[in-house]
Amino acid sequence: MKIIQMDKQNLELLEKIRQQFESAPYPKVPLEKSPKNNPRSLYIHNFVTPYYLRNQKYIETDGKIILDAGCGSGYKTLSLAEANPEAKIVGIDISEESVKLARQRLQFHGFDNAEFYCLTLEDLPILGMEFDYINNDEVLYLITDPVSGLKAMKTVLRPNGIIRTNYHSSFQRNLYFRAQEMFKYMGLMENHSQELAIELVRETMKALQDHVHLKVTTWKPEFEKDDERVLANHLLQGDKGYTIPELFSALRAADLEFISMVNWKEWDLMSLFKEPNNLPVFLGISLPEISVEERLHLFELLQPIHRLLDFWCGHPNQAQSYVPVEEWADSDWQRVRVYLHPQLRTEKFKDNLITCVTQLVMLEMSQHLPIPEGTVTIDSTMAACLLPLTEGSQSMMSLVERWKKLRPLHPVTLEPTEEGDAFELVKQLLTRLEGFGYVLLERLP
Ligand SMILES: C[S@@+](CC[C@H](N)C(=O)[O-])C[C@H]1O[C@@H](n2cnc3c(N)ncnc32)[C@H](O)[C@@H]1O
Repeated sequence: MKIIQMDKQNLELLEKIRQQFESAPYPKVPLEKSPKNNPRSLYIHNFVTPYYLRNQKYIETDGKIILDAGCGSGYKTLSLAEANPEAKIVGIDISEESVKLARQRLQFHGFDNAEFYCLTLEDLPILGMEFDYINNDEVLYLITDPVSGLKAMKTVLRPNGIIRTNYHSSFQRNLYFRAQEMFKYMGLMENHSQELAIELVRETMKALQDHVHLKVTTWKPEFEKDDERVLANHLLQGDKGYTIPELFSALRAADLEFISMVNWKEWDLMSLFKEPNNLPVFLGISLPEISVEERLHLFELLQPIHRLLDFWCGHPNQAQSYVPVEEWADSDWQRVRVYLHPQLRTEKFKDNLITCVTQLVMLEMSQHLPIPEGTVTIDSTMAACLLPLTEGSQSMMSLVERWKKLRPLHPVTLEPTEEGDAFELVKQLLTRLEGFGYVLLERLP
């Protein structure tokens, strides 16, 4: 492993981090376990998702080169491989043992088009490769100078490539930072054996009265048995927290552009108000004017529930400007190509859809791709209208034609279905499903 110039203190910390993950590669997931049946994880790891969010365009993943920077034991690398068929996968990590496990994992699941290297994030340019997508999950907050990590990733990112990375939230995680401070003070984060340090944390917690604040707020019964969780929380080497303004200022320093939060639906500022359309005058006037950064910052101040500030970014000025779906005129809709999100292009979804259509029952879309708000269903005629999408993309107008065949008569008047009514209903259906990420709508020139 070659390491670019670092001062002694940073090198010592890097070594402590390396040792932590060398003796306990993360995550500890059995080799044979597959994320195949976790559509939410595949959705996040699919290059199609952020590419669409940035450009309102669909992209094929075959031939793309994807990097998992800080791949750990490779479970998320496997998600990347499953979610991006025919893409080449590269993984790097400073821990040799983690790299070994990640390599074995991908081989075990039949991905021969994957390469792994023992390397630091900062040394990425040494690889001499460029990537379409870089996944950097649960790593950046460990690095002393995250801007240098962002810059290193930017150097190896293709012009229209996208980086997914994350920080720990200062506001959400401050209790664990205090616990780490406490165990550092007790000397447990020096070069002890990890087993001993974990045991001493447990003994300390056991010895404390139950009402002691640190115990009430950071100790859970599952920590009694789960070593990995104690290491990843109370004893995590190098762990630091950031705020949204700090995140944006790091992006500016690295000359990268914010694209979106990964769990963007869970960062909706308006959802925090009882009546979003009836705000006090001051808020009603100012909120619509504020920037994305300010909206996210207000959210974290009001509702610091997310452990991760998990986001996508890319080179500046690469986003292709587009008009949001809600602002499309009918002439725009007539030129739309409709795609089912690849995570819904599964046999299971298709079988379930056909069952719903033939037995006239509601189709629960959210069962196939869960969303945080709960359940999303559509009725069986709508589901029947979507059926051709399971085979490939369709034009909006072909779906309108299909709707007219499925419902030739107006259900109340029994008059023939008007073209305009069918168009309006399909438009409403697609707008709703696009809002949940289930369909992708590309407006052709
Ligand atoms: C918390 S684990 C996350 C692993 C994986 N990304 C995941 O989310 O499952 C952090 C990983 O980052 C690696 N790491 C930490 N600092 C690094 C650096 N400067 N360069 C490369 N890898 C690093 C560690 O060895 C460890 O495997």
